[in-house]
Amino acid sequence: MPGDKSIGHRSLLIGALCDGDVAVTGLSDGEDNRSSARVLGQLGVSIVRHGDGRATVHGVGLEGLSPPREPLDCGNSGTTMRLLLGILAGQPFEATLVGDHSLSRRPMKRVLAPLRRMGLEVLAARDDDYPPLTVRGRRPLTAIHYDSPIASAQIKSAIMLAGLYADGETTVTEPELSRDHSERMLAWLRSGKRLAARPIHVPGDLSSAAFLLGAALLVPGSDVVVEDVGVNPTRTGFLDALALMGAHVAHTAPREHNHEPAADLHVRHAALVGTRIAGALSVRAIDELPLLATLAARARGATEIRDARELRVKESDRIAKTVAMLRSFGVDAVEHDDGLTVHGDPERPLSPGQVDADGDHRIAMCASLLALVAPPGTEIRGAETIATSFPSFHDALAALGADTRLIRT
Ligand code: S3P
Repeated sequence: MPGDKSIGHRSLLIGALCDGDVAVTGLSDGEDNRSSARVLGQLGVSIVRHGDGRATVHGVGLEGLSPPREPLDCGNSGTTMRLLLGILAGQPFEATLVGDHSLSRRPMKRVLAPLRRMGLEVLAARDDDYPPLTVRGRRPLTAIHYDSPIASAQIKSAIMLAGLYADGETTVTEPELSRDHSERMLAWLRSGKRLAARPIHVPGDLSSAAFLLGAALLVPGSDVVVEDVGVNPTRTGFLDALALMGAHVAHTAPREHNHEPAADLHVRHAALVGTRIAGALSVRAIDELPLLATLAARARGATEIRDARELRVKESDRIAKTVAMLRSFGVDAVEHDDGLTVHGDPERPLSPGQVDADGDHRIAMCASLLALVAPPGTEIRGAETIATSFPSFHDALAALGADTRLIRT
């Protein structure tokens, strides 16, 4: 598996603030992690890749970043832009942040509101705090307590990173616990008020592994093991939802890397049943909800996904996109404000889908999986976006024996 995207971003962005060289292993080749590395380079941090997921982040310490000469291009990566804004809040210089078409449509007010309270100045923004953004930080920042209205690790992490530059204790609460990779990594690196250079291993990405586990559940006869996958409990909602749908994913060889649990995951093709996914489970499975909806198409009975309004502001409006993608394969799916319902039927024939991924890697991967169980003729436009998180996805499917000729991109 490619390394976990969320932990990879943090190994680079937080590693850059350490006192000395941080040896990273398991780092993904995906474009999103590359965006974090590239913008850090513009801020004076040298990151050397040695191949095979190994890299050295030459940390410059909390005060060592330098002003960028050009706009910082965060590409497709919301995590890069939002976490970076938290770091930039504590830098006494100006910086401009830009992103691609998809990132330019994603709301930044959710991080700028608390960061403004801490002292970040927003000098320019489009409309209601959409990128491109020009900001100026300062040091020290004002410590705050922030009661976040949204369960979001990006908001929480931006505030925590700004908190490294604040003049007292900064605290954040959220309605449900979002992924806690920043908390774990800061605890791993913390040395008094500074960050020590310690090695970081990035375990395999459960959000990518989920697509291979999902392929195994869809394609009869499959039996798949994925090795060294992160199983942080704030991320394993997908596995819990699968259990509700009647699929058992076995964990073997449990281990821990820099406070992050990991294991090998084993699944066999299984008949699925519909379920309800809501509340904390939706938060813990947020990036896998489109995939769960896709699997629900081949499950017996209805699957209802609720409390997932956040899906509307991901790389695309993932509620609308997932419903449109499923309908294009002939699946009965209904959109709600905060989620969707899929009326699954394993016997109902699918039609070949016509899908426009529109800058959303997870939609393109969901459509690829349905293509494996639909008649030939599925076409996925914009599938190159898969490279943001899982560049080797189609090769991995082919290596598992999937007939990837069914996926036309
Ligand atoms: C991420 C947090 C989540 C998730 C995204 C990665 C992170 O976003 O959807 O893919 O690495 O912090 P939110 O913080 O907006 O929920």
